[in-house]
Amino acid sequence: MLSSSTSPLHLALCCVTLLSLHFCAAVPTSKVGFGYRLVSIEQNRNGGGLIGHLQLKQRTSAYGPDIPHLRLFVKHETQDRLRVHITDAEEGRWEVPYNLLPREQPPPLGSKASRSPSTASEYAGDQLIFSYTSDPFTFAVKRKANGQTLFDSSCGTIVFKDQYLEISTHLPKTASLYGLGENTQPGGIRLRPSDPYTLYTTDISAINLNSDLYGSHPVYMDLRNEGGEAAAHAVLLLNSNGMDVLYTGTALTYKVIGGVLDFYFFPGPSPLAVVDQYTALIGRPAPMPYWALGFHQCRWGYKNLSVVEGVVEGYKKARIPLDVIWNDDDHMDAAKDFTLDPVNYPRPKLLDFLSRIHSQGMKYIVLIDPGIAVNSSYGVYQRGMAKDVFIKYEGKPYLAQVWPGPVYFPDYLNPNGVAWWVDEISRFHELVPVDGLWIDMNEASNFCTGRCELPVNHSCPVPGSKTPWICCLDCKNITNTRWDDPPYKINASGSQAPLGSKTIATSATHYGGILEYNAHSLYGFSQAIATHEALQGLQGKRPFILSRSTFVGSGAYAAHWTGDNKGNWVNLRYSISTVLNFGLFGMPMVGSDICGFYPAPTEELCNRWIQLGAFYPFSRDHANFASPRQELYVWDSVAKSARNALGMRYKLLPYLYTLNYEAHTSGAPMARPVFFSFPNFTASYGLSTQFLLGSSVMVSPVLNKAKTKVKAMFPPGTWYNLFDMTKAVISKDERYITLDAPLNEINVHVYQNTILPMQRGGMISKEARATPFTLIVSFPFGAAEGDARGSVYVDDDERPEMKLVDGEASCIEFYASLREKTTVTVWSQVEMGRFSLQKGLLIEKVRVLGVQGSGQALVIEVDGEPSADGSGAYLAETSPMHQEKVEGGNSRSSTVVEVAGLSLPLGKKFSMTWKMGING
Ligand code: NOJ
Repeated sequence: MLSSSTSPLHLALCCVTLLSLHFCAAVPTSKVGFGYRLVSIEQNRNGGGLIGHLQLKQRTSAYGPDIPHLRLFVKHETQDRLRVHITDAEEGRWEVPYNLLPREQPPPLGSKASRSPSTASEYAGDQLIFSYTSDPFTFAVKRKANGQTLFDSSCGTIVFKDQYLEISTHLPKTASLYGLGENTQPGGIRLRPSDPYTLYTTDISAINLNSDLYGSHPVYMDLRNEGGEAAAHAVLLLNSNGMDVLYTGTALTYKVIGGVLDFYFFPGPSPLAVVDQYTALIGRPAPMPYWALGFHQCRWGYKNLSVVEGVVEGYKKARIPLDVIWNDDDHMDAAKDFTLDPVNYPRPKLLDFLSRIHSQGMKYIVLIDPGIAVNSSYGVYQRGMAKDVFIKYEGKPYLAQVWPGPVYFPDYLNPNGVAWWVDEISRFHELVPVDGLWIDMNEASNFCTGRCELPVNHSCPVPGSKTPWICCLDCKNITNTRWDDPPYKINASGSQAPLGSKTIATSATHYGGILEYNAHSLYGFSQAIATHEALQGLQGKRPFILSRSTFVGSGAYAAHWTGDNKGNWVNLRYSISTVLNFGLFGMPMVGSDICGFYPAPTEELCNRWIQLGAFYPFSRDHANFASPRQELYVWDSVAKSARNALGMRYKLLPYLYTLNYEAHTSGAPMARPVFFSFPNFTASYGLSTQFLLGSSVMVSPVLNKAKTKVKAMFPPGTWYNLFDMTKAVISKDERYITLDAPLNEINVHVYQNTILPMQRGGMISKEARATPFTLIVSFPFGAAEGDARGSVYVDDDERPEMKLVDGEASCIEFYASLREKTTVTVWSQVEMGRFSLQKGLLIEKVRVLGVQGSGQALVIEVDGEPSADGSGAYLAETSPMHQEKVEGGNSRSSTVVEVAGLSLPLGKKFSMTWKMGING
């Protein structure tokens, strides 16, 4: 509906606002276009929204001819999502396929709008207002509540050519921007003006700064704090073509080499609301099996099964938790997917090993690459050829080279390709009952470039080659098409490298003639979808997939690791920003190679890395064959830190699993920038050396060599040390606080007002998850009044869905209050307690932090009645608390009070109250 409130006065004011913004400092650009004029705009008769028509003002020849007529479609698709879609009015154009990323379709081209022409220049939804000017056509998106302009294209000129689209927005200096990846950002999470942001999936390792890496996520979050009130929103440009995004600090310009302008605006206003709205469109993050939250060990170069068995043994001996053991490509026969090396990984022995580790609850994951070896005696290849599933070049499968030598790439946009892939995975599962799959090299990575043929006068792969990554096919560069050599060169690989460099030639074609030029960045995404379908079909279990290449929506199918990093201190630091970015991209299950992929880390670095990595959502040690062994038991000091940090992770598994549930239901990242919980704490807007797990657990790692102190920033309030709960940081402002960080310790704190569900931990998640719970209740240090809350979600994690269904899952909310210094009450509300009761899950302890005095006269009720379940309970000795660091506050006294000896069924609601006896 057009806003009925639009009056002439309103329009005039609106124009003034838009005009004033013309002075924004747009990114300097050569004149490639003169923009468009809006010739009509009307209500869309079927399905709502507005349909407009734009006419080119003046032609230019730079980057090809302009498209003369454009169709504008604008719709408030939901209460909190506005879409602005601009395409060629006369011919269909490439868009991210609607079957890959399901969403509303804009009306077909040429569809009739209603006869009533609009006189208003505003179109209001519940939270956002779309407004426009007609000549030149520009549009703005404003927040309805306060009129704040979030996006304003009047800052630049709209250019729309077949292979070059350009649009800009003004941004106020007060905006902090996040996102636009995948990118290793040396400056931290907040985007830095003038850093390049190029999006195009590429096999460039994470050690390359400010470059287009493995994934493409053309979305940014914009956080502003004007007048002390923070508000966030996000902007997605849903487009899979390569693009440069230029950010000056006061403007942002997209330069895209194809597709359409398909913008989605998400109004927030809280950062959590933004990711909720974003993942409601692109797909909620995939639920993770419980074991996936345990620790993972991998290495490229586990030469044979005995080595793998030795690693599992090594972890056991060192008493370091381990849930999942991985194989890179070492288990394969000559690097061929879905095969086993008969000598080094003989099937009977592997099956025996798997049945042993499976019986203990451990899991096994292996790697697969998309490239299928061209080998006529290889069944996977034969069946693929018979079903015609490979990407084509001039009618024949496109030849490339990866680890097995010559390969063809499956086309996951081809329904036959998907069916064949699903079938191959199910055959492989018959051969080896793996618990998950790692899809690597899916940008797609190719060791050759261009149009290649099998060489006639030498063998390829070169037998016994020590450098299998060197191209051994006979190849010619392809430069004679506008796809391989487009008029505008994005800053690919940081050097305007040809788009087809070390990947599939961009003039190659997918099913239905889809050009690789358009679909390139969707390759890993489409492979994840097909792999997910395959794994879900096996035994009906919840799939686990780790994908290197990702696109908008990949989080609904896969986890991610940040790719090949370096075993050095800066890479340890960079890992935090990339992990936090993927939370914004709707892929919360993410981590970096702990201790670095290559070269060898020092013992001290590996020690600090496991302390941080133990709190990545996805926690895996992985290394290159050329590095010396770096399993956590290799060095005593690292083993000690691992026992400590992973010991804490395993106690926190119920919390992590609940975060996984939250992520799956609302998109909330598991690891979050601090501003997610403290949006008005502006000092945290650029904070990239610390992060939150969920809403209230702060991780403050040591990121520098030879340091045993860490400078950390804490939003105001009390933060209790999770390792020694008698220690508290009391922060009053944004100053950095120096904390002790001895070699084997990491600082992890829980914020006041929280109830944290913890268990006893253990060596494997299967055991840890059955142990009794302790609830940590935190009040402000020494306060007279306080409230705390928390929750826990439990299920059996075997079902593919993660849903609160009676008998299959339970959700328990915990509450606590402190009144007049003296009365403490802790209670729960239970939703669907049956599952938890069946599992016999119990609460054994409640530990309350921050109260004064000692506890007395405990009363416990279960299901509203005094109960035997509480009869063994007693108020344990109270211990005094230490104010570890007090910033600007008065010294007060405080204690930890523990209610021990409980055996409260988690699935029944309880309530407990006691008085604090305070002397003096
Ligand atoms: C590249 C991946 O990024 C790395 O993790 C893996 O070890 C190698 N491929 C070998 O498969």
